[in-house]
Amino acid sequence: MAPVQVKKICCIGAGYVGGPTCAVIALKCPHIQVTIVDLNKARVDAWNSPDFAVPIYEPGLVDVVKQCRGRNLFFSTDVDKAILEADLIFVSVNTPTKKSGVGAGFAADLNYVESATRRIAAVATSSKIVVEKSTVPCRTAESMRTILEANSRPGTRFDILSNPEFLAEGTAIADLFKPDRVLIGSLQTTEGKEACRALADVYANWVPQERILTVGLWSSELSKLAANAMLAQRISSINALSAICEATGANIDEVSHAVGFDSRIGPKFLRASVGFGGSCFQKDILNLVYLSESLHLPQVAAYWRQVVEMNEYQKSRFSKTVVDTLFNTITGKHIAVLGFAFKADTGDTRESAAISLIRDFLSERAFVTIYDPQVSEEQIWQDLSEACPTTPLETIKKQVTIVHSALEACTQKEAIIIATEWKEFLEIDWQTVYANMSKPAFVFDGRLLIDADKLRKIGFKVKVIGRGERV
Ligand code: NAD
Ligand code: UGA
Repeated sequence: MAPVQVKKICCIGAGYVGGPTCAVIALKCPHIQVTIVDLNKARVDAWNSPDFAVPIYEPGLVDVVKQCRGRNLFFSTDVDKAILEADLIFVSVNTPTKKSGVGAGFAADLNYVESATRRIAAVATSSKIVVEKSTVPCRTAESMRTILEANSRPGTRFDILSNPEFLAEGTAIADLFKPDRVLIGSLQTTEGKEACRALADVYANWVPQERILTVGLWSSELSKLAANAMLAQRISSINALSAICEATGANIDEVSHAVGFDSRIGPKFLRASVGFGGSCFQKDILNLVYLSESLHLPQVAAYWRQVVEMNEYQKSRFSKTVVDTLFNTITGKHIAVLGFAFKADTGDTRESAAISLIRDFLSERAFVTIYDPQVSEEQIWQDLSEACPTTPLETIKKQVTIVHSALEACTQKEAIIIATEWKEFLEIDWQTVYANMSKPAFVFDGRLLIDADKLRKIGFKVKVIGRGERV
């Protein structure tokens, strides 16, 4: 077969992955035309907005879009046209946990992947390389191939690659500019290897060759689930230790520093917290649990399930600490929650620990005031409605207030909860906050962010996750 040279790329899905990933490809490969398509018109309009009000908050992203939108980067709702023109198509649609049916609560919902695949088969009139960018269960590429082959026109061939994305939100652009590795999985056939080379050549425009790893399709799919499961496992391990620290008087910062100094363990991703959130850790581990169960490996399933259970425990343990410390009741008390996103530097709230905490505080009938620098009011109301499905939004609104600064959130409150590690919370004027709070004034730091000793000197009663000091 003739060597393939990628000239036009289509990316189906203009979300947190498709948008930044393909914008960076456009930036680094000016000779390739990149069109990112989505069925969600509002999202596409935002990507195309004249003032670059892109739909995702991600440091450095607007700068990338500004450099190439209209040059070789396009956003569109015309999925069919982009499929028709492309030689390589990324499928970067959402793969959430299934809500009903077989595997509900564990298995990935592959409905969006399947409809995108069916669309490619229905529309394509020439051969395409189809790339799984979405995180999918092991062997999904086989189902995609079956769908494509069963529906393709004569003379049209599809080569399927797995190219999972490892970017983290908040650092997406930096991660994409300098990835630890790019992973490409292909069938080990001549055609499969040729397709793999064509995609590797795209990345080789800015990624050093030794960081582009090529493996078999199933290894690639599984490696993505494995990487997320192992990252989340580190957080659950350190969070399990944080509970022991609180009970013994040890300090989790000192423990993770000491443990991480072992070069075999390493210092990254050992920060105790109120619990991991985000759209993928929980979903991907549950997916691995489901895969293990389907393969009749119940002990393996139980092992990974415990990582998620530990995370649930950490969230509820933190809520309980708040209630216990506030004299065993928060009914009618006023609490400020600083941060609603699942981590700093993103406006994404999917599976954010803040949602679980606030749901717990509302069920204790506390009044909650929320401030987050990036999350919209509309998103907060939507998340709280989903978290409290039996409570009408009007009732939630009687207990919750959303404000536009940390200082405003903290005024006249009995307790402040730090739920997200936004840097701007380091700049809070705690002296002024203290003067405007009801006494005793409590601060609960779920992110190891603040200088607890400094706050104690001002007069605050402070509880920090993973530290056993008395308030
Ligand atoms: P997202 O929900 O932000 O974006 C997915 C987009 O796909 C949506 O805008 C949706 O409208 C669109 N879409 C769905 N079906 C479509 C179709 N048939 N045609 C056109 N558009 C369609 O999701 P995301 O966060 O970008 O995640 C996408 C995938 O990448 C998931 O599998 C996820 O697990 C994986 N992933 C996510 C991250 C992350 O940080 N968010 C990182 C690595 C991998
Ligand atoms: C994570 C992975 O880091 C990415 O490699 C992967 O591509 C992505 O999932 C995905 O597949 O979606 P992301 O969820 O965006 O990225 O963000 P992380 O930085 O991993 O943080 C996840 C959660 O863990 C956050 O709530 C964060 O606050 C928490 N965390 C992280 C800790 O509690 N402690 C840590 O030490 C690190």
